[in-house]
Amino acid sequence: MNILGIDTSCDDTSAAVVADGRNVLSNVVNSQIKLHHPYGGVVPELASREHIRNIAPVVSEALSRAGIGINDLDGIAVTIGPGLIGSLLVGLYYAKGLAMVRRIPLAAVNHLEGHILSILLEDKQPGFPFVALTVSGGHTSLYHVTGQGRYAHMGQTLDDAAGEAYDKVAKILGLGYPGGAIIETMALGGRDLIDFPRAQISPDSLNFSFSGLKTSVSLFVNRWYDNEKIRAEIKKEDIAASFQEAVIDVLAQKLIKAVEKAGVDSMVVAGGVACNKALRKRLSDEADARGIKFYYPRPVYCTDNGAMIALTGYYRIMRGEKSGQAEDVRSRYPIEEIRQ
Ligand code: KG4
Ligand code: ZN
Repeated sequence: MNILGIDTSCDDTSAAVVADGRNVLSNVVNSQIKLHHPYGGVVPELASREHIRNIAPVVSEALSRAGIGINDLDGIAVTIGPGLIGSLLVGLYYAKGLAMVRRIPLAAVNHLEGHILSILLEDKQPGFPFVALTVSGGHTSLYHVTGQGRYAHMGQTLDDAAGEAYDKVAKILGLGYPGGAIIETMALGGRDLIDFPRAQISPDSLNFSFSGLKTSVSLFVNRWYDNEKIRAEIKKEDIAASFQEAVIDVLAQKLIKAVEKAGVDSMVVAGGVACNKALRKRLSDEADARGIKFYYPRPVYCTDNGAMIALTGYYRIMRGEKSGQAEDVRSRYPIEEIRQ
């Protein structure tokens, strides 16, 4: 069963073909990084126009790399939210058109469910139940996953997402967009010298907050630029390393707390920030120390991709859930609102 998965939720136009919810035949991502780079973040209007230009060629490329034609598709899965409305609309209407012409099932997919299930694209995957941390430019959330389509929300960021904090700190340091990979590389040459705040909310809380950390970095950087003596002692690399350490501390602490609270023995990290090697290393060490099994998808399945949407759609179609032409996009789409 060949499913075409389409994701246009933010700034990447992605399409993939996945066979039987398992074999990725192709996974094409057209990145808009260069377009948004000068603005230090995604400009929604530019993103949707670029999706319109890219969607047909990206889908063609996905089919051609998979070695199949449009008539070999058995279903189409598309992200309907959460995300940027204008961007989501491009993917949904393209998918609707294709599904109508070909008369094949359409599956409307929640982007966050895609990130949670992206681990099922890997050979090394957990059994249910497990706890998943999805950490990206738009989200930082913890879920207790007890089965396909069964997700209990355990905690989330109350303000900025972790990836958003990386992007904003990169902007403050004049490093460009997106900030995650740039800061990760820069941190390799730095030392954890500055004690930036680790917001706890309350001792038992599984919620996150990164806006205080971002403000604290901003205030520090202002002093650092103005003061030659501080600049002689502390390098930009040290600021990057100290910031990253603060983010990783909080993510690791809350994920372990969530695993213990849920009483499971497996944990998963997914989403763009999960590409970060220092984060993976810390989570791996923390898991080993407690006998917890730890899983993470390869980087191309961590950042936004069509394969995770195809896989999620495959399971929805197999469960008999079909979405119709009346389906609409949703900028907010909490996972609890997914139709079972
Ligand atoms: O999942 P994703 O591709 O898109 C969203 O759904 O947001 O995640 C993009 C985010 C960006 O904020 C980017 O800075 C961050 O993931 N990111 C990283 C790394 N690679 C990407 N953050 C930290 N370290 C990385 N290596
Ligand atoms: Zn994402």
